[in-house]
Amino acid sequence: MPASEKLIAPEAAALLAAPEDGAKSLPVWLVRDAEGLAAVPLDGAQKAWVEAQGFKGTARKHVLLPGENGSLAGALVGLGPASARDPMDRPEIASGTLPALLPPGVYHLAGALDDVELAAVAWGLGAYRFRRYKTSAGGSEGLARLRMSAGGSGAAAIIEGVWLGRDLINTPASDMGPQELEDAARALAAVHGAQVSCIAGDDLLTNFPMIHAVGRASDRAPRLIDLSWGRAGAASVTLVGKGICFDTGGLDLKPASAMLIMKKDMGGAAAALALAHMIMASKLNVRLRVLIPAAENSVAGNAFRPGDVLKSRAGKTVEIGNTDAEGRLVLADALALADEEKPDTLVSFATLTGAARVALGPELPPFYTDDEAFAAEISAAGNRVGDPVWRMPFWSSYETNLDSQVADMNNVSEGPFAGSVTAALFLRRFVKQARRFAHFDIYGWRPAPKPLGPKGGEVQAARALFDLLRKSRG
Ligand code: BES
Ligand code: MN
Ligand code: ZN
Repeated sequence: MPASEKLIAPEAAALLAAPEDGAKSLPVWLVRDAEGLAAVPLDGAQKAWVEAQGFKGTARKHVLLPGENGSLAGALVGLGPASARDPMDRPEIASGTLPALLPPGVYHLAGALDDVELAAVAWGLGAYRFRRYKTSAGGSEGLARLRMSAGGSGAAAIIEGVWLGRDLINTPASDMGPQELEDAARALAAVHGAQVSCIAGDDLLTNFPMIHAVGRASDRAPRLIDLSWGRAGAASVTLVGKGICFDTGGLDLKPASAMLIMKKDMGGAAAALALAHMIMASKLNVRLRVLIPAAENSVAGNAFRPGDVLKSRAGKTVEIGNTDAEGRLVLADALALADEEKPDTLVSFATLTGAARVALGPELPPFYTDDEAFAAEISAAGNRVGDPVWRMPFWSSYETNLDSQVADMNNVSEGPFAGSVTAALFLRRFVKQARRFAHFDIYGWRPAPKPLGPKGGEVQAARALFDLLRKSRG
């Protein structure tokens, strides 16, 4: 199978049956409480069966409904009481638990749903499993399929994008270095007729010195991947994704516990490519550019050191206070290039700081922007599609955290406070001309299974941005 086909997870779409697909489908009722249960049209035998099971609509409980002659007639799935304040507590999102819960077959969601596309997306996201290194058979063939109602047709592109991003993150660094990340971008581009160029190794020295410095200790050459697609006259959208294929911390080496999941440090690149797939597959009317500074932050005799001073693409000099703050260095050079084109929308995605997780935990990535209207749109879109994000401030008074005695700036603060804000302020220094800019400090990882996906690599903020863009540029 060509890499491109494999990369875009063709099985994702197979989980969804078109509304007109001839196969018969069984109803699944999502039930919150006794009142909801009473509204389900059950026959006498089914009612008795449900009662005998003690099913009352409690969250994470379900019963299969008997049909004639021992056949399956459908299922009831409990949601528990609604929490109006929680955007993740919606029946559409709970649909993500169903493909693994129900016997193989084709189902439809019975009863009224506010958002049929979200229910289909959740179904597909919940069905994802990373099986690349499993030698036993298994895959999505045996999983329950969802027949979509009319209105769910946009779901496939979204699911495929997220599956692609998760595959990229979950693939261990031994098989996902800077070259393989470039290959993935090229495979995606081939599917959609996009262009890719790449500057690698010592060719970075002239114009992208910080990408080179971060990546030079690895025997897998660092690079800047540059994908472009779309109509020349359309509004420009540039996505920049942190592509650190493995983050040892460099000479400021991470302890084992912190290094364990650092294959995910290209999660920003994965989010950018996932979003790029959604945009290109839906043929949004934008001019898209994706920039991925890809490098491995490794340890070797030629590694960059604490105390070194790097020159950046933008001309400013940066003193290295900590080699583990490498993401902002590679992003600064990529953002400077992006900014030169004055894009209408510039977005960066990066697994940038542990501090973001201290503040908001793994499920709620902070984002930063100076554009009030953009901020409101981003927050609303995230809640709408179950890809929540939370605004934090570019707090200018903390700019002094980045003061340096010897260079134009340091890459880290001396103190322990406001780590995510400080990193965001560092990035903002390299963005001067974009019409609007937002930066997402994502985690890129789901530490425990939830309705929208299993434990492992996660694409964050991409679905939120896609929803925002298609509402204005569809
Ligand atoms: N990739 C890490 C950030 C990270 C760590 C994200 C754990 C998610 C989970 C980044 O390169 C890093 O190491 N940041 C340092 C910055 C510090 C040295 C100022 C951090 O957060 O500790
Ligand atoms: Mn680091
Ligand atoms: Zn990192």
